[in-house]
Amino acid sequence: MTSSERTFTVLGHRGAKGHAPENTLPSFEKAIELGATMAELDIHLSRDDKLVVMHDKDVDRTTNGTGEIRELLWEEIQQLDAGSWYGAEFAGARVPRLEEVFDAVADRILINVEIKSGDTPYPGIVERLAKLLTDRNLIERVVVSSFEVSYLKALRPLLPDLELALLYSKPRPDVCQEALDEGWQALHTHLSQVSKPFVEEAHALGLIVRGWNPNEVDGMRPLIEAGVDGIGTDYPERLVELAKEQGVL
Ligand code: G3P
Ligand code: MG
Repeated sequence: MTSSERTFTVLGHRGAKGHAPENTLPSFEKAIELGATMAELDIHLSRDDKLVVMHDKDVDRTTNGTGEIRELLWEEIQQLDAGSWYGAEFAGARVPRLEEVFDAVADRILINVEIKSGDTPYPGIVERLAKLLTDRNLIERVVVSSFEVSYLKALRPLLPDLELALLYSKPRPDVCQEALDEGWQALHTHLSQVSKPFVEEAHALGLIVRGWNPNEVDGMRPLIEAGVDGIGTDYPERLVELAKEQGVL
C-alpha cells in the first residue's frame, strides 16, 4: 500500500498518544500494535539542523529538559528523557530524530510528517526533509502536512510525486480550489470543518480528506458518515473497531 491510494486511513496521532508518550518510538510501536495504518508525527529543526520529532517548539512539556529546539544541539536533545513525564514504565524513552523513526517503523506503517514552525518557519527544514525522503526512498510511504503554506509551496517542486496535505482548523473559503491550484493532494481538516457536502466536493475534484482528531467514538462516527478518507486519533483501536462496524475498513 502506498500513501496515495484512497483507502481508509487509521491515523495514529503522534503515534498512539492515548497510550504512550507522544512522538516516541514506543508510541509508534503502539500505533502499529493497535491497528493504525499511518502514524502522524511532528518535526522541528535543531540548532545544528537535525530533524527532531516533537510536537512543541520547546522540550519543556515532554522531556526532563528545558529550552527551544531551535536553540539546542542534537547532542543535548538526545540525552533527554521523553518518557518519564508520561509514566514510569516509559522512563528512558528518547526524543527520536526523523531518520530513527523511519528506520524503526516505516516498513510497517505509513508516516504523516507534519512540519512545524517555531515562532517563525525554520529555514532549510523543507530541503532537509526532501533529501531524507529521497535518500531513503520513502516518497510512496509518507504524506507531508503543515499548517504553514510556505513549506508546502516549497516542497511541491522539489518532490512532485510526494503526497502533500494542507492542515487547517478554521473556515477556509475555496480550500478545495486552493489545493488544486497548489498541487496538493489532500486536506487534513479539523473535525469542526468536515461535512458530507464538503467531502463530496473534495472527492469530485480528486482530493483526499482526512479529519482530525476525535478521541471518542461519538466524535468519529459523523466523520465516517461524511465520507472522509481517514481520521486522526490518539486511540487508533477505537477507530479500528468503529471503522470495521461501519464497513469502511
Ligand atoms: O494531524 C493534525 C494534528 O496533528 C494537528 O495538530 O497540534 O496535534 O500537531 P497538532
Ligand atoms: Mg501534528
